[in-house]
Amino acid sequence: MRSTDVVIIGAGAAGLMCALTAAERGRRVLLLEHANKAGKKILMSGGGRCNFTNTYTDPANFSSQNPHFCKSALARYTPWDFIALVSQHGVPYHEKKLGQLFCDNKSKDILNMLLDECRQAGVDLHLNTSVQQIEKAEAGYRLSTDLGPVAAPSLVVATGGLSIPTLGATGFGYEIARQFGHDVLTTRAGLVPFTTTDQLKELCTELSGTSVACLVRCNDQSFRENLLFTHRGLSGPAILQISSFWHPGDAIEINLLPDHDALQWLHGQQSARPNSELKTVLGEVFTKKMATLLADSWFASKPMKQHTPAELRDIADKLGAWPVVPAGTEGYRTAEVTLGGVQTRDVSSKTMESLKSPGLYFIGEVLDVTGHLGGFNFQWAWASGHAAAQFV
Ligand code: FDA
Repeated sequence: MRSTDVVIIGAGAAGLMCALTAAERGRRVLLLEHANKAGKKILMSGGGRCNFTNTYTDPANFSSQNPHFCKSALARYTPWDFIALVSQHGVPYHEKKLGQLFCDNKSKDILNMLLDECRQAGVDLHLNTSVQQIEKAEAGYRLSTDLGPVAAPSLVVATGGLSIPTLGATGFGYEIARQFGHDVLTTRAGLVPFTTTDQLKELCTELSGTSVACLVRCNDQSFRENLLFTHRGLSGPAILQISSFWHPGDAIEINLLPDHDALQWLHGQQSARPNSELKTVLGEVFTKKMATLLADSWFASKPMKQHTPAELRDIADKLGAWPVVPAGTEGYRTAEVTLGGVQTRDVSSKTMESLKSPGLYFIGEVLDVTGHLGGFNFQWAWASGHAAAQFV
């Protein structure tokens, strides 16, 4: 029987942060990862440049059945703490927009930094290692693993969500939670592209690759970001953001003229350029292809002076509040995050320890805490991992 102080299952963002911090406190840490590499999502993140935090991190950037749960950990380990670590390792980074910090080079810089810290602190990391069974023991937990039996007073579940199974995602964390009496809230894909059907799909396919600034709304949430048409439907930051608030059957509303009052703008264009065709006018704000497609297929393009006031109103309504009912989402195959998960009610927001089974901890995305797009999910992984590490 191998015995240690802390066993952490999952060497992703939260597991690595928890491991290095607990080991720096002098705890003996065994970190078990079933994939052949640690931190695969870190490597894939931010288009290969890892959007590792957001300087505007605030509890309002997170969705959870209990919006207060994330506050304590986020306040105790802030973006500036992570930035200090990044700077200490000389990892070059920049702010892309809206407080989003990205590596100048590759995501690998962040993963290497975490792995270096783990090595220096003496974390015992094992890749290609699965856990078959977990039992409560007198003083902690006993695990059957590919390394043989392991016992520890503290067990940390850092197995993440269900997004992107090919990167190692499993529902194992939810199984552990249920085994020890926790409720697991229904999970669904978040930060995920929408799929479309019929005419809308044809439009998306024709415009595939086109990106446009928009304001998108659904269920009392709105995001002003770019939308990207794809062969399958709609993507881009605006869509990924709103997807986390969308439920099957809901319509989303897309304002394709977020910088204008659509009707006022059209009236202005009609006065200024009465002989210009609608498609030419729309070409001022959209790509030529998109302007032509919208003008011809939605409105029957003709010179501006020939559009009646009622027609201009219809055009303004459609451009300013285009209602779209997505057929669905691309699901966990491409989702950046998993909404729902281990219910926070039975977990301490200070220590991340289970209130049902002492010595058991949940950190990162396995919990019902999901950030907006923009570095918030990593900040939650760092903060919750760091919080648990003070108590394991
Ligand atoms: P994470 O998924 O990182 O780690 C879980 C680990 O547990 C994995 O290594 C997995 O293999 C392992 N595991 C699972 N089951 C196991 C088992 N049974 N036994 C042993 N190990 C097991 N966020 C952000 O803030 N900025 C960004 O730029 C991006 N970009 C991004 C791109 C893409 C493509 C994705 C999919 C996601 C993002 N994210 C992101 C989200 C971010 O990656 C995510 O929220 C964090 O990685 C969550 O950290 P965790 O450690 O909780 O899970």
